[in-house]
Amino acid sequence: MNLPLIPPVKNESLNGDVLSMACDCLVVGIGESGNLSPIASLIDERTSGWLTNAIASGAAKTKRGELLTLPTLPGIGQTGSCAAVLMFVGTGDLAQLDRGKAFDLASTVMRRLVDSPRNHIVFSLGTPCSPEVQEAFVAGAIAGCAGQSNYFSDPAIHPPASIGWHDFSPSAVALGTMIGDSINVTRRLVNEPPNVLYPESFADAAAAVGNEVGLSVEIWDETRLDAEGCRAILAVGAASIRPPRLVILRHYGAPSTQAPVALVGKGVTFDSGGLSIKPTDGMTDMKCDMAGAATVLGAMRTIALMKLPINVVGLCGLAENMISGASYKLGDVIESRQGTTIEILNTDAEGRVVLADVLDVAVQNKPSAIVDLATLTGACMVGLGRDVVGLMTNSESLCSEIIAAAKQESEPVWQLPMFEMYGEHIKSKVADIKNTGDARWGGAITAAKFLERFVDDVPWVHMDIAGPAFAESPKPHRDAGATGVMLRTLVSWLKIRAAS
Ligand code: BES
Ligand code: MN
Ligand code: ZN
Repeated sequence: MNLPLIPPVKNESLNGDVLSMACDCLVVGIGESGNLSPIASLIDERTSGWLTNAIASGAAKTKRGELLTLPTLPGIGQTGSCAAVLMFVGTGDLAQLDRGKAFDLASTVMRRLVDSPRNHIVFSLGTPCSPEVQEAFVAGAIAGCAGQSNYFSDPAIHPPASIGWHDFSPSAVALGTMIGDSINVTRRLVNEPPNVLYPESFADAAAAVGNEVGLSVEIWDETRLDAEGCRAILAVGAASIRPPRLVILRHYGAPSTQAPVALVGKGVTFDSGGLSIKPTDGMTDMKCDMAGAATVLGAMRTIALMKLPINVVGLCGLAENMISGASYKLGDVIESRQGTTIEILNTDAEGRVVLADVLDVAVQNKPSAIVDLATLTGACMVGLGRDVVGLMTNSESLCSEIIAAAKQESEPVWQLPMFEMYGEHIKSKVADIKNTGDARWGGAITAAKFLERFVDDVPWVHMDIAGPAFAESPKPHRDAGATGVMLRTLVSWLKIRAAS
């Protein structure tokens, strides 16, 4: 698949007199404290107090996320050239600006600015913020340059050619670009329609991304999957004319003696429900059912570019859940790669069946930890809502590492319990386990209990991203559609792990 995965935005740090530089828009931060940043003060001085008046009268608001756009003010530049348009952006209380807020703020700004073509945009936030927060600003701005309207004949989004970051550190700009671009790669793949994105074309895209950034890429086609005993993946994909794939990405940034971390993603490129078919309403957005796999790819892309000193293997289990004479059926018993036998009682509980084999391949890599990401259950959305990721684990210490990283990035996560009694619900009368719980109660957890059977004793965290991976409606800081949720958390966590 040959898609323009990344909007062609070039990010660079810049210094000097930004008021006397030509650009299409200069974005100036105004904080809540009342004392203006050096650039805002200069504007104020050169316009005889226009900005102070604007703030005092409420025409310009300092509350975080408030935007005021206007044609340039006469006399702000000292040479002939200056910004064509000014945008004042409220940054709120600067001390409160963490990475999550910085990301959303920059994305909000860019989402407003991409409504018309602009070549060069300069940000002068005037905040002496930490490199980590600078990084988040840059990543958020890039995320704001992409959305789900990829197939409009008349483009709705016009990404600029370049963004300049006044007084930002070059390395923060570089790192933020890696994260922002990777989020957009993930979102683009999730937003692709299922006639374009299917297991084979996902694998092609993964190979292209992997080659670009220096990941090793291994692809198991249906013949290899069969030879490897991946009968569970093959069963889910059996009814599709698009055969399944397993993509294995490797980043070995540490000595090969170090056990790798495994990232595992559910990559159901379309989930019709199979013979347990979904109604139209439930099927409409089921192109998003490969978000876990796309997030694994995006995270692997980021850490490869960052050259993180850690070993990570990323596994994407890809299948299309369809209907035909070859469908896997209710009552089928499948022997998974690991040997555990699975009775199929609902073909719409396909994600856990795919992951059974992928987790087994992950375990074979002798990892020190496994994290899987899956749009696994509607039950998780019932329990936690659309915006919160459900975490389930067999290792409290690993889970608290993940929770800490998520907190740093302001990505909302909540842990659900994994009491032994939930395991009772997946006992089958004819096989080792069945692929649905006895009742719908606790559906997110019974699904995780199923997965737990395939991770051996490896510390493992399961992320159910069914709600937050794909947004129904837009917000000021992001378009509807794919969100790239958890990519920043994964990268943060791996960074911390690489340093310890
Ligand atoms: N892909 C769905 C879960 C899902 C639902 C993701 C909504 C995103 C938004 C999954 O394969 C599924 O169908 N799960 C079933 C499981 C049930 C049959 C045990 C569900 O949640 O209803
Ligand atoms: Mn399903
Ligand atoms: Zn599914």
